[in-house]
Amino acid sequence: MKVKLLRYLANLGYGTRRDVEWMLREGRVTDADGEVLYGDDKVPHAVIRLDGQPLDPPPGLVLMLNKPTGVTCSTKDHGQLVYDLLPERFALRDPVVSTVGRLDRDTSGLLLMTDDGQLLHRITSPKSGLDKVYEATLAQDLRGDEAATFASGTLLLEGEHKPLLPAELEVTGPRSARLTLHEGRYHQVRRMFAAVGNHVESLHRARVGGLELDGLAPGQWRYLDAADIDRLFGRG
Ligand code: URA
Repeated sequence: MKVKLLRYLANLGYGTRRDVEWMLREGRVTDADGEVLYGDDKVPHAVIRLDGQPLDPPPGLVLMLNKPTGVTCSTKDHGQLVYDLLPERFALRDPVVSTVGRLDRDTSGLLLMTDDGQLLHRITSPKSGLDKVYEATLAQDLRGDEAATFASGTLLLEGEHKPLLPAELEVTGPRSARLTLHEGRYHQVRRMFAAVGNHVESLHRARVGGLELDGLAPGQWRYLDAADIDRLFGRG
C-alpha cells in the first residue's frame, strides 16, 4: 500500500476522510492480530481489518453481475442502478468501479464491472474481438433469411455508414434466437432485429468471451480472479 491508511480506506469507499478518522480514533481498524492501526500507517492490504473483518479487494477489482431487467448501468439515473446491487461502498471507491460497456435497462445478463481502466480497455477494444452472446425473444416469427443477412458483413444500421461485422445467428425457436456479436454498437441487437422487420421482446446476455454466468441468479454477483480473466480472454 503506497498511501497512508486514512486515505486508503477513504479510497476504498469506507467513508469520507472524516468518517474514516472516526473509525481509526475508535480503534476499529486493526491488523490481523488485533493491534490498533493509525491513520499515518502504511501496511499491506491483506493485514488490515475493520471491525475484525478483512477489507474489500484492493484496486484491480473485477466482478461479474447477472444484471436483472429494470436496472440501469449508470451512476445516476431514475430507478434502480447496478450499484444498488453491490455493497454501497463500491459506488464511492477511487479509482471508480465502472461497468464494462453497458446493457440496456431492459436487457438482463452478464455484466462485467471493474476499477481497472487498462483491463476495461482490453475487454472493450475491437482488437481483442471478444464474442458476446445474446439470447433474444422476438415479437414475430423469424423469416428464415436473418442468419444470412447478419452474417453478410454488409448490414447497415439506420443512421450509420459503416456496415456491421458478420454476426452468427442460431435459431432456437420460431421466435427465439441466439446471436453472437464481435463488436458492440448502441442497442445493437435490438437495431439488428429492427433492420429485418422484427422486434426484440426480451434480451439476455449469456456470455462474454469465455465467461458465462455459471448459475449466478439475477441480481447476484461474484468477484473474478486471474483464472476467470484468462477464461474471459479464451486462455482458460
Ligand atoms: N444490444 C442491445 O440492443 N442491447 C443491449 O443491452 C446489448 C446489446
